[in-house]
Amino acid sequence: MHRRPSNGAESGSEASVIALACGMPKAELHVHIEGTLEPELVMALARRNGVALPYPSAEALRAACRFRDLQSFLDLYYACASVLRTEQDFYDLMVAYLRRAAADGVVHAEIFFDPQTHTARGVRFETVLYGLRRGLEEGGRALGLSGRLILCFLRHLGQVEAFAALAQAEPHLDAIDGFGLDSSELGHPPSGFAEVFARVRSLGRPAVAHAGEEGPPAYIWEALDILKVRRIDHGVRALEDPALVRRLAASRIPLTVCPLSNVRLRVFPEMAAHNLPALLRAGLCVTINSDDPAYFGGYLNDNIRAVAGALRLSAADWYTLARNSFEAAWAGEAQRAAWIRALDAHFARQGYPGAGSA
Ligand code: ADE
Ligand code: ZN
Repeated sequence: MHRRPSNGAESGSEASVIALACGMPKAELHVHIEGTLEPELVMALARRNGVALPYPSAEALRAACRFRDLQSFLDLYYACASVLRTEQDFYDLMVAYLRRAAADGVVHAEIFFDPQTHTARGVRFETVLYGLRRGLEEGGRALGLSGRLILCFLRHLGQVEAFAALAQAEPHLDAIDGFGLDSSELGHPPSGFAEVFARVRSLGRPAVAHAGEEGPPAYIWEALDILKVRRIDHGVRALEDPALVRRLAASRIPLTVCPLSNVRLRVFPEMAAHNLPALLRAGLCVTINSDDPAYFGGYLNDNIRAVAGALRLSAADWYTLARNSFEAAWAGEAQRAAWIRALDAHFARQGYPGAGSA
């Protein structure tokens, strides 16, 4: 175990702890590229591509971002994604996200994309992938951050359609770093995707899955035992099951938690009720992420500010969260060690030395 910052770690003022946390180098491991489509870009792409939308302005679209639950959000998210048509659109979307991520101190981003929502509208799989990949490579190089692309199967379309998406992906596996499972969780348990994830494993690609966002702890068990995922996306309902908490803690399976998303989708009634502190106290490898920042009120540092304002996290907790993000990232050990050195240096510069000593 690493030792967390000690000197003064519990005594920083709220403002200085927020500055410390926002300035940390960190990895973002749960962000849907389609969820970074800002209302202004929706409007610009709708004009560019001649797509009619039921919203007259970016302000009207922003005002529509009030959700009852996951499904009410997904309905708007898929509707807005319909403005994405060309390789340039996907490239522009990726570069816009990377700029915002870099400004928040993100040095590595693992980014979901949902090709089925585009191919169902007649957009070619390659149009989506090439635009995103080129954006990630060129934008990442220019901004000094690394990235991964994770193809998510849409669970509401079922396993047969997931196999069709995987068939389209197979000629391009060098450009796809892993596979995930997202969209409507309730009624679509991970076990329904056992065979397609077995195929993903046989192709040598790592897997993740959304589970325990709205769905019960049983879905997290299934993601672990049947899909054999490396990370759980969300997973906040794990706390309802002590045996599951023990399993997650012992295996260091990361949970990519998305606080603003959870409040906007009413998984928790308010940020002060979020179970992030309890997940940390339980010793789980928790990370903070933005999920769909254009819809939920902000990017990674907006999540950090919202959490810091409502929950009593110490400097040591923030160190743990950033360190967990590097532990959970898909990277080589030398890169991981370099990120953690940079994190330790940040804490030392801010007056919290001793962060990284073993
Ligand atoms: N797709 C985009 N955001 C999602 C979320 N929070 N849960 C499930 N599917 C999603
Ligand atoms: Zn998500």
